[in-house]
Amino acid sequence: MQNRLLKNILVTGGAGFIGANFIRYLFSLKEFKGTIFNVDALTYAGNLMNLNDISEKYPKRYFFYHYNICDKKKISELIQKQNIDTIINFAAESHVDRSIINPETFIKTNVSGTFNLLETARLFWKDRQDVVFHQVSTDEVYGSLGKKGFFKETTPYAPRSPYSASKAAGDLIAKSYYHTYQLPVTVSNCSNNYGPYQFPEKLVPLMLNNMLENRPLPLYGDGKHIRDWIYVEDHISGIWSILKKGNAGESYNIGGDNEYENKRLVFLLCEIVAEEAGLNIEKLTKLITYVKDRQGHDRRYAIDCNKIKDTLGWKQKFTMMKGLKKTVRWYLTNTLWTERVKSGEYLDWIKICYNNR
Ligand code: NAD
Ligand code: DAU
Repeated sequence: MQNRLLKNILVTGGAGFIGANFIRYLFSLKEFKGTIFNVDALTYAGNLMNLNDISEKYPKRYFFYHYNICDKKKISELIQKQNIDTIINFAAESHVDRSIINPETFIKTNVSGTFNLLETARLFWKDRQDVVFHQVSTDEVYGSLGKKGFFKETTPYAPRSPYSASKAAGDLIAKSYYHTYQLPVTVSNCSNNYGPYQFPEKLVPLMLNNMLENRPLPLYGDGKHIRDWIYVEDHISGIWSILKKGNAGESYNIGGDNEYENKRLVFLLCEIVAEEAGLNIEKLTKLITYVKDRQGHDRRYAIDCNKIKDTLGWKQKFTMMKGLKKTVRWYLTNTLWTERVKSGEYLDWIKICYNNR
């Protein structure tokens, strides 16, 4: 059992998809008594609407700072002033397609930003062991699999896109801080998340949104690429177990045990949307369009998450059907959220995407 304070918690990227779900989850737990300091640069992916109710309900336990994780001075002042004892680094540029078009911001945030957080923590925490720095990472750092096999924590890093390479660099710097300075660092490598508040550039919300707008459903290449899918709450509960019980210096894989070809997933989504929104399934599936493949598109990801199950007692709660239905219902109910998110910059992105294919 670890002796961590988990009291004054700095969450970076807390206005994004997984970060906001994480903050919401912590406040829903009876056992959580701490205070959250959410640092987010509010890029196109950051949205304070995701936490409006939380900031109203917990004015003394939730605080937002519009800072960039690369800003040494502001991050250092905040960590000292608020006596931060836990850092969870969600802040990142997270979309592979964007990293192909504009890799520079990925290096700045995912590499330099992570380094800045680690260095600030090291200088402030010195050799304390009641603190923890958790680096939220991805299964994409392991590269691409053939038809068989699974990524394990011992699989060597072999990233293949600017996004995954920048995440891998951040993870390795984090691990180096454990080995060199004994900074209590943990890392999680998770598979593809879906759920509420996900920006509609990622496969699941993009397809849902296009179905509801009667737009083409663009499948890259032959649509037979495979990902492992996990409902966001299962990812978050895994991170919470690592914070409480994970060993410093170790990585934990988190996955859904749900491998799906993209094509199969989109057909399943058509079925669920048809049922939940009362639409015609044939009309929806006819929208499926095969488009030019993503450059360097990794063929298959599959994750072995037995370590976190066996050592920390974590397990998934959501089947694919349960998670997807919950997600579809959320998007059908929260149309104001989607409308706001889709204004402005989103439209520019859609134009770039479609011009490229
Ligand atoms: P997201 O793009 O929805 O959110 C990222 C958040 O980080 C946004 O709120 C954005 O404003 C903020 N941000 C970006 N640059 C920043 C900077 N320089 N300073 C401060 N804030 C900044 O991403 P997400 O899907 O919620 O992913 C969160 C983390 O989880 C990322 O580190 C990602 O690599 C990792 N991850 C994501 C998935 C997935 O399926 N989405 C899976 C595994 C791991
Ligand atoms: O594996 C974890 C990773 O999952 C995270 O680290 C990333 O932050 C997250 O974005 C996600 O990366 P992917 O590239 O796998 O997710 P995306 O939703 O972009 O694509 C999922 C699959 O669907 C992938 O094989 C590409 C394909 N795709 C995607 C889009 C947006 C399509 O066929 N059509 C599309 O329009």
